Amino acid sequence: RKPITISTLRNMYKKNEPIAMLTAHDFPSAYVADSAGMDMVLVGDSLAMVALGMNDTNAVTLDDMVLHCKSVTRAVRSAFVVGDLPMGSYEVSPQQAVQSSIRLVKEAHVQAVKFEGGVDFAPTIKAVTTAGIPVVAHIGLTPQRQNALGGFRAQGKSVAGALKLLEDAYAVQEAGAFMVVLEAIPAEIAAIITKQLRIPTIGIGAGDGCSGQVLVQIDMTGNFPTGRHLPKFVKKYANVWEESKRGIEQYRDEVKNRSYPAKEHTYAIDEEHVAEFQR
Ligand code: KIV
Ligand code: NA
Repeated sequence: RKPITISTLRNMYKKNEPIAMLTAHDFPSAYVADSAGMDMVLVGDSLAMVALGMNDTNAVTLDDMVLHCKSVTRAVRSAFVVGDLPMGSYEVSPQQAVQSSIRLVKEAHVQAVKFEGGVDFAPTIKAVTTAGIPVVAHIGLTPQRQNALGGFRAQGKSVAGALKLLEDAYAVQEAGAFMVVLEAIPAEIAAIITKQLRIPTIGIGAGDGCSGQVLVQIDMTGNFPTGRHLPKFVKKYANVWEESKRGIEQYRDEVKNRSYPAKEHTYAIDEEHVAEFQR
């Protein structure tokens, strides 16, 4: 596959071809996403939960993001890679956002950055795009602001809420974002926003009327402990956790009953060398 650029993505949008995006947080998860034909790979700050065992995304640092983005871009051959700006790395000022974005591009080689916010972050989007770094905006449910939103809750369910979303969508487009993620909003509202805009929308829990979709990889591959709560919008396409656990349990059993390693897993040596060695 040829490397996907911002022009490729714009052409897909023009041709009304849905854009497929998936998160990745390290070399193997990025490798498999790229090999499986993802158009875009997102190094989301959701890596807080899926890779670092945190309860929310708030404690992830820019250094964490740089490390994980590096491992992802080492693996990706074709997909367009976007890195999340974590909480605290862009809200203070547009200058701070530019500096953080430059780090992700220079040190970790991402092709674009994403950060949360609508109208209020329009000047920030403008500053980062002016520096030549493409921006993916993120509106609706913004997990970094869950304390202000009252938890991980769907947004835009009232008329006022839906109007606010439309305002946010216009604002991020006018500020120069080349794409916008719509998280956890009613399908009808996402479809209207998508029709109104001239940049692609990427939905997560936003119905089938968006220009593309994104999911968190470990959720959709089922690569997490059984019993973890999954948001309503996640479709589980595989059962990686069960398969890993099955294999590891079998390994444990075979170590305990000495059936692993077998002959084929063992290096050979001439009997006479052994005899000599023992003398
Ligand atoms: O952090 C993340 O994975 C995200 C996507 C779910 C959009 O922001
Ligand atoms: Na995120």
